[in-house]
This record gives sequence, C-alpha cells and structure tokens, in this order.
Amino acid sequence: MTSNSCDLELTHVRKSYPIPGGELPILVDVNLRLSRGDALAITGPSGAGKSTLLYMIGTLDTPTAGAVRILGTDPFALGSADLARFRNANIGFVFQEHYLLPQCSVLENVLIPTLAGDGAEAAQARAQQLLARVGLAERLRHRPAELSGGERQRVAICRALINQPPILLADEPTGNLDRHTAEAVGGLLLELSREQNAMLMVVTHSAELAASLPRRADLVDGKLVES
Ligand SMILES: Nc1ncnc2c1ncn2[C@@H]1O[C@H](COP(=O)(O)OP(=O)(O)O)[C@@H](O)[C@H]1O
Ligand SMILES: [Mg+2]
Repeated sequence: MTSNSCDLELTHVRKSYPIPGGELPILVDVNLRLSRGDALAITGPSGAGKSTLLYMIGTLDTPTAGAVRILGTDPFALGSADLARFRNANIGFVFQEHYLLPQCSVLENVLIPTLAGDGAEAAQARAQQLLARVGLAERLRHRPAELSGGERQRVAICRALINQPPILLADEPTGNLDRHTAEAVGGLLLELSREQNAMLMVVTHSAELAASLPRRADLVDGKLVES
C-alpha cells in the first residue's frame, strides 16, 4: 500500500432502485476518502440515502456502480462466506434501534460477534473491560428489558467494538434518546473509537453530535458534500 492510500475509498458510487419504467436514483455520485482515526458526521434530510450509504460501506448493501475499497479490499468481489468474515472482523455497527437479543444477558449480547472466533476467555475479559468502560460493570447479567435506553445503546456500542474493528458505523445512534443521554452516548462513540484508532462514521440528526465530530458532510441530491 502506498502512504497516501485510505482505509475507505468511495469513487463515483451510485445506488438506484429499479422502479416501473426506469430507476430511482438514491446515491448519484458519492466520493469519500477516510482513514483510521478519522471521524465523520453525515447529516441530510430524511430519505436522502444516509442509511443506504452507511449500509453499503458496512457491506450489507451493494452499489449499483462505482468503486468501494475498504482496507484495500473490494468487499463486493468476495464470496459470501469471505464477505461475512471480512465484515465481522472489520466493521462494527450501532443502529438507532439497539437490536440486542432480548433473551441474552448484557455480557452475552456483547460477546455475540466473537462467537465465530476463538479465544472465548480473552473475549470475555475484553467484553467485561468494555462494559466497565461504559459504566455497565454492575449490569453484566441484566437483560436488555431491564436497562434504560441509554444503557442499551452503550451495550450496542460495546458489541460493535468487541472485535476491535478498524471501522465503526453508527446510524442515528442517539435518535431514540433524550438530549442528555444522547450527548453521553455520542461522547462514548467518539472516545472509544479514538482509543481503538477506529474510523467513525455517524449518521445523525443531532446538530450537537455532528458538531462534536472533526469532519461533517451533508448528503444532498445523492451527493456527499463536506462542510
Ligand atoms: N429496497 C428498497 N427499494 C426501493 N427503494 C428503497 C429501498 N430502500 C430504500 N429505498 C429508498 O431510498 C431512499 C433513501 O432511504 P434511506 O437510505 O433509508 O434514507 P435516510 O436514511 O437518509 O433517511 C428512500 O427514498 C427510500 O424510499
Ligand atoms: Mg436512515
């Protein structure tokens, strides 16, 4: 790799959906370069394609055209098993809904992404460290229903970071939280991603959260415009 290579490169990325008689353009020409340690907030009106973009970077959705390179790899050239491994090792997700498994404890939820790997004891220790780091050391055996909204999102952040992924993606992670809790959760996302030297991308409607990140971009008319 050359010294100016980026960990994430999107070049002329398009995404459209087929509709009767044509296609519905969502992402028209998205260009983006980010490296580990960068943190970018993405804002834009509802329906602009923010989630579509984030899911594509998370390799959960495919582009219609254009080039996506993540950590020097074209993920969409991988077979499905390799792609799942690539995603599990390299990308952490936090969604607006926590998507914790209701029947599992806090600790078990955080450990889910590690189940495919080995070293269960190391993973357990790391999960406990992370949960302590976000103030949940006393909640390891709680079920998600026994937590507050902010606590659930903190568990979701720990789950996203348990494999120490170089890329952390968050789609409106504070959208369901009151302002004070949202600030705390947003702060944790930034702090923890910095500690792990991860790249952080956050889609948010919160001007405060966007302002707290070093880079900001607006998704408008299918294009990403950095401000
Ligand atoms: N599977 C799909 N088929 C057709 N249109 C879709 C599909 N998924 C999303 N869209 C459309 O793409 C647009 C962008 O959606 P989304 O990325 O969720 O926007 P945002 O997250 O910015 O609110 C919306 O207009 C939505 O209707
Ligand atoms: Mg969305």
